[in-house]
Amino acid sequence: MDFGGQYCHLIARRVRENGVYSEIVANDITAGDLEGLKSRLNVRGLILSGGPSSIYEDGAPKMDRQIVDSGIPILGICYGHQLLASYLGCNVVRAHKQEYGSSYANIKLREGVLKDMSAKEDIWMSHGDTVLSVPNHIKVMATTENCPVAAFMHESLPIFGVQWHPEVVHTKHGDKILSAFIFDVCKCRPTWNAQKTVPKYVDDIKAAIGDSKAIIALSGGVDSSTAALLASRAIGKNLTAVFVDNGLMREGEAASIAAMAKNLNINLVSVDASKEFLGALSGVSDPEQKRKIIGREFIRTFERVASGINAQYLIQGTIYPDRIESGHSKKSSVIKTHHNVGGLPTEIKFKGIVEPLRDLYKDEVRKVATSLGMPEEMVHRQPFPGPGLAVRVLGDVTVHKLDILRKADAIVTAELSKSEANKRLWQYFAVFPGIKSTGVKGDSRAYGYVITIRAVESREAMTASFAELDWPLLRRISTLITNQVPEIVRVTYDITDKPPGTIEWE
Ligand code: XMP
Repeated sequence: MDFGGQYCHLIARRVRENGVYSEIVANDITAGDLEGLKSRLNVRGLILSGGPSSIYEDGAPKMDRQIVDSGIPILGICYGHQLLASYLGCNVVRAHKQEYGSSYANIKLREGVLKDMSAKEDIWMSHGDTVLSVPNHIKVMATTENCPVAAFMHESLPIFGVQWHPEVVHTKHGDKILSAFIFDVCKCRPTWNAQKTVPKYVDDIKAAIGDSKAIIALSGGVDSSTAALLASRAIGKNLTAVFVDNGLMREGEAASIAAMAKNLNINLVSVDASKEFLGALSGVSDPEQKRKIIGREFIRTFERVASGINAQYLIQGTIYPDRIESGHSKKSSVIKTHHNVGGLPTEIKFKGIVEPLRDLYKDEVRKVATSLGMPEEMVHRQPFPGPGLAVRVLGDVTVHKLDILRKADAIVTAELSKSEANKRLWQYFAVFPGIKSTGVKGDSRAYGYVITIRAVESREAMTASFAELDWPLLRRISTLITNQVPEIVRVTYDITDKPPGTIEWE
């Protein structure tokens, strides 16, 4: 259950890594909604995530009290721990100062979720509110220097709370807490994995599309290629892949996508819609507006292609974090409207949109791709945003700026792909911030553009760290760019993690 914590996806993924399927639900669901989920899922337990609020704040997220009393196993983490504690009659106080970072917990009761803990455990926490004392029916399981109730359990219901974050790697034995909850408290069995679910994904596509025709936009990324492979298994020759050249692609992209479709044995139609896209984007500088325009142009292009071949369905490679980051509950804020979700116009001419990967994380998609026989270099291709270079040219997009960025980006990509660092990098690319700066080229003063290099390490793009690249490598890239792209006089390196930055600049 999502209380707005950045760690919510991490919890869901950790559960899945244990071979047990998990989904994120909004905190405003009712006991009735939860009951309704049981028609689709064998719901065995609920984990309440952390979140940025204080339970005493106006408008702080709450949960349906009936769920707490229903007897379903519950593990509250951080904010979830405090909220549960307040429902169960504990004394929760608003702290004057926040506690943040590494600490240790004294484990008093080695039972339930803490059954595999030692007397003292390294933990990681970040909280404001603190649970101070408990009523008789609650047992204190752990304390820390500043938290007299750092973990608790209900004496008769399968309800636990931990103030620290078991889902982050800095909590040394956090995995043992989660697996004790999943297996001992919820009595789950480790039977799920994404690869095993392939026949179901294929059946679901068949059921949704039947004998109709469908198109899929092939962007070259692993998500759309995997969705295409699944769809091609499901509906065979009724699938047509479409590559839209929107003028926002990287150097050599069109050729590489054509080769990829051939490799996957998928029928491909290429459409040059760059005039329409760039025309619609002309003079627009707001990033969200740009995403919406691109989403709209994509759909209009697909509609044109679809009507030409009488296809009624659109298949998309949307994955789980795309849906959640585009805002899934009444309260969660939209970080970016990813064009393949929130950026779609509401009026579309397709009978339906089918998203076979909608419940999977990227690493799970990669496993599905491998199990479908996709070549390794395609499986590990870097993600590339749907709106393409439009979110890497800041502000208004012009052909001139795109051309400069493409040349610089090709250098960054070529150099980093053959570097040692390549293996640990999630994404690397060039950004065109659109500012001009003074430099010296040859013997004279030059006034030209700035290019920024972005290279990050990440596991699933929800968080990321800037990569600590070698100076000689960065110097080589910088020299190549200023030598080979005359319009550029200065190269900078982005040293911002996510959060507080995002991976893309827009
Ligand atoms: P951010 O910039 O939000 O990016 O940290 C997280 C991941 O998502 C990609 N990204 C997008 N993908 N449509 C997409 O399909 C979008 O509008 C979009 N914006 C960002 C980004 O490249 C990174 O992998």
